[in-house]
Amino acid sequence: MGTAEEDVVLRTEAITKSYAGARALENVSFDLRRGEIHALLGENGAGKSTLIKSIAGSVRPDSGTITIDGHRADALTPTSAAALGVGTVFQELSLIPQLSIAENIHLGREQRRRGLLDKRRMLADAREALAHIGVDLDPRRRVAGLPRAQMQLVEIARVLHRESAVLILDEPTASLSVGESARLFEILQSLRSRGIGIIYISHRLAEIKALADRVTVLRDGRKVGTVDTAGVTDDLLVEMMAGRSLDQLFPTVATTPGRVRLRASGLRTATLAGVSFEVAAGEIVGLAGLVGSGKSDIGRVCFGLDALQAGSVEVDGRALQRPSPIRAMRQGLIYYPADRHVEGLVRTGTLADNITLAPVAAGTMSRLGIVDRRAGADRVQTVVEALAIRPADPGRPILGFSGGNQQKALLARSFARDFGVHVFDEPTVGIDIGAKADVYAHMKRLCEAGAAVVLISSDAEEILGMSHRIYVVREGRIVADLRGADRTEENVVRAFFDSQDSSSVTSGSPR
Ligand SMILES: Nc1ncnc2c1ncn2[C@@H]1O[C@H](COP(=O)(O)OP(=O)(O)OP(=O)(O)O)[C@@H](O)[C@H]1O
Ligand SMILES: [Mg+2]
Repeated sequence: MGTAEEDVVLRTEAITKSYAGARALENVSFDLRRGEIHALLGENGAGKSTLIKSIAGSVRPDSGTITIDGHRADALTPTSAAALGVGTVFQELSLIPQLSIAENIHLGREQRRRGLLDKRRMLADAREALAHIGVDLDPRRRVAGLPRAQMQLVEIARVLHRESAVLILDEPTASLSVGESARLFEILQSLRSRGIGIIYISHRLAEIKALADRVTVLRDGRKVGTVDTAGVTDDLLVEMMAGRSLDQLFPTVATTPGRVRLRASGLRTATLAGVSFEVAAGEIVGLAGLVGSGKSDIGRVCFGLDALQAGSVEVDGRALQRPSPIRAMRQGLIYYPADRHVEGLVRTGTLADNITLAPVAAGTMSRLGIVDRRAGADRVQTVVEALAIRPADPGRPILGFSGGNQQKALLARSFARDFGVHVFDEPTVGIDIGAKADVYAHMKRLCEAGAAVVLISSDAEEILGMSHRIYVVREGRIVADLRGADRTEENVVRAFFDSQDSSSVTSGSPR
């Protein structure tokens, strides 16, 4: 079943790339047809981002060729790749925080307009680009300070707004929830029907099977194979990715909830309108909701990162006075932020530095520079093994790890000490299926040791698979408390939207 050459919009031949002697890609040949969605799948560090960065011109391969739209493209740069029609949404977003949303959407294209920039036209244009993907944001707002999910939406709007022959999206739904993702999928499907070739990277198998026509699997920098998604099973994909099968993604957590360890009463902040809930020892409670619903703000305020206007947070029956990360941790509550780049990691440090840092989130950490000096090399090694961080090299700079391995380094901090309450915000964003299983097993262990676990997540499968109970958050309130047989995807998604406006569920547009 050969593909006629004119159907192929992009081809790579024998691409090889090493970083400091370590092979990231080896002889990878790949083709993308017009009007197809082609998924790239592989474990963390398999080489997915390196391949698409080579195509987008931001990484220079050591050898191999890339042909875009019939043009043999040697020595690609970001500018020449864009000129050949490659549009890319990168995994590590490329927005400029100091600029407005509108300026970011137009970045790099201003030179095409003659003379002065037409500000009004830029704003109208940006508004249209955002509306196209169903986002209600003021384009005059600065990008700095936007939550990661909204940055991701702006980045998507920016790339979709341009004419591309080849569209590349590297984990675009990582911090989006069901509603935003559904809207994005509709758009991608319509672009596909207009003949655009789309490369789509995701760790969510369900998403890949629903969306993609073919999937190419990478392992350790090599191509394992390309298969049609029609009829492919999860087992086969996992086997191709990992070279082994995975028995079970979600462990059975058979604990009986004990005493209440976390109690939030009437929390009010700039974004929360009176939130009350409790989590018991041995219990995993999911917080679900759309981007901007307030689910992450609940985690932040419990950890003292956002100011509380009213209400209280109690850990083990004791109220947190003037909540701050340090006080929260002293009383046994730890929070793992969703945005590893802005809040989580010490970007200038090594893997070991990031693991041994006392777990203080959000700037506080680097500001106070608190290092947990009891953490010896042994413990670092244990943690690296428990979470299967690759390469297992504590001395390597954190930024030299793939995205998923950076995420694991962030979670590694929960091994540092005993906490009674663990609040995870999107803990498995960007990590591969094997690593997810490791993280879930870790949550189970915490739970069995008597901790209370809060799981804030946009991934419906994860929330349903892991939580004893699910609170659905909408517009700064808890609108549903689902337990037992009521914990269904349908109930969760229904609660995302206004009951009288359930039509928006099917059309997929948020709010
Ligand atoms: N800037 C860099 N410096 C050194 N090594 C790097 C750099 N970027 C990537 N690597 C290494 O190259 C390999 C491939 O990384 P890449 O980011 O392509 O993986 P990936 O498949 O996108 O993973 P993930 O699912 O975690 O995003 C990894 O071993 C990674 O550690
Ligand atoms: Mg990647």
